[in-house]
Amino acid sequence: MTAIASEIERFNRLSATWWNSEGPMRPLHVVNALRLGYVVERIGQHFGFDPATDGLRDLRVLDMGCGGGLMAEPLARLGARVVGVDASPGNVAAASLHAAQQGVAVEYRLGDPGQTLQAHEMFNVVLALEVVEHVDDVPAFVHRVARSVAPGGLLLVSTINRTWKSYLFAIVGAEYVLRVLPRGTHRWRQLVRPSELSAAATGAGLQPGDLRGMRYNPIRHTAAWCRDTRVNYITTFFRAPAAPEADAPPAR
Ligand SMILES: C[S@@+](CC[C@H](N)C(=O)[O-])C[C@H]1O[C@@H](n2cnc3c(N)ncnc32)[C@H](O)[C@@H]1O
Repeated sequence: MTAIASEIERFNRLSATWWNSEGPMRPLHVVNALRLGYVVERIGQHFGFDPATDGLRDLRVLDMGCGGGLMAEPLARLGARVVGVDASPGNVAAASLHAAQQGVAVEYRLGDPGQTLQAHEMFNVVLALEVVEHVDDVPAFVHRVARSVAPGGLLLVSTINRTWKSYLFAIVGAEYVLRVLPRGTHRWRQLVRPSELSAAATGAGLQPGDLRGMRYNPIRHTAAWCRDTRVNYITTFFRAPAAPEADAPPAR
């Protein structure tokens, strides 16, 4: 079990607000617009096609900790077969209702990775966006989702780094001074360093890819990519393609 009861209760209480882009989830809506472009572009580059013309070609995508489905829905609209998983019953209900209202097919499951993923279930793309900073036992969580990346597949993880700068900006500034996030949204000790993600993902057989920073402007409510990974960042990992099968021995 990687879910923290108090965190899940807090997300549950907010579940009705998920699709309100001016409500408590406003920062996620702003960030989502930026990261959706990156995720789609990265998928296209990795799998060698142009999503603008080809869509997402039926790729199987897992969105772990999907919340209300801000990322799951647009990826499904682009043609991916998306499974969204979340440990909050309210979020899964809100996500399912919204997808049904929009006529978008997403399969939602309730629980954490260990409860919802079958042992040999594989996905071409696995997303864990703004979730690892809310879970118990980050290495176990990341290791489990990384194991579900198919050969040749991709894992993208976005979160907040554990640095003095993230304490000042993401916690003191965002929650106590400017109040763009409710107090208690993030606890500094639970924030996750890129090296910690890398250790867990490579331990599950993945290879490290890109690492880039993201800057959120809490006054203007805008987000942009940057080099500085000391506060928000997104990182990718990939699994090598399966080796081609050796030729069958010649018939005697
Ligand atoms: C900050 S929200 C991010 C939602 C979504 N990924 C996004 O970026 O729009 C974190 C989500 O992770 C979920 N969550 C927290 N711990 C989890 C766990 N152990 N397993 C699955 N989901 C979890 C919460 O219920 C919440 O919906």
